[in-house]
Amino acid sequence: MYIVSESPSVRRATEEDIKEVDEIYKVTFFARTKPNYQLFLKNENCLFFVVTINNKIGGFIIALIEGDVGHILLLAVHPNFRRRGLGTALLKHTLSELKRRGVKKVYLEVGTSNIPAMNLYKKLGFRIKDLRFDHFISIEGNVDDVYVMEKDLEEDAHEN
Ligand SMILES: CC(C)(COP(=O)(O)OP(=O)(O)OC[C@H]1O[C@@H](n2cnc3c(N)ncnc32)[C@H](O)[C@@H]1OP(=O)(O)O)[C@@H](O)C(=O)NCCC(=O)NCCS
Repeated sequence: MYIVSESPSVRRATEEDIKEVDEIYKVTFFARTKPNYQLFLKNENCLFFVVTINNKIGGFIIALIEGDVGHILLLAVHPNFRRRGLGTALLKHTLSELKRRGVKKVYLEVGTSNIPAMNLYKKLGFRIKDLRFDHFISIEGNVDDVYVMEKDLEEDAHEN
């Protein structure tokens, strides 16, 4: 059989997506407590997007807007769908929406050992702003140091 692979498409998450989103969350952040997805869906200052490929949810992102500052709270791509541009698609879409909503600076925290995520963030223009020690439970469940990363949305009109 010939399977056509679509390019990833990002859209707003809905109630019906939560089961699949939570499955991705569990295989990714198995050491963490469950997020309150309903709250993120309802809060108008939250951006909650999923990325689909061949009609399947491959990943999700949740961001929070506080005035002209944005925070990336969660980003995960299912292990079976990684390294196909889904994380990039989710993050680009979110940055563009944050900018549209008047956000000037975006912050996130990433474990210092999380090379895939750090590479992705650097590629999309985030820079290391700060280092916090023993601040974070890594995706393997260990205590990790984190980098606080920052992106200035006013600097890169060409990207967003
Ligand atoms: C980080 C994550 C979201 C990336 O998603 P993805 O869909 O695989 O990312 P993309 O395919 O868009 O990759 C974009 C870039 O990120 C970097 N990257 C992604 N995976 C990488 C890996 N395994 N090793 C090194 N760099 C990697 C590369 O620079 C890549 O660009 P390239 O493919 O042109 O080299 C995904 O690995 C994930 O869900 N990880 C677990 C959860 C997590 O760490 N979330 C972030 C917490 S702060």
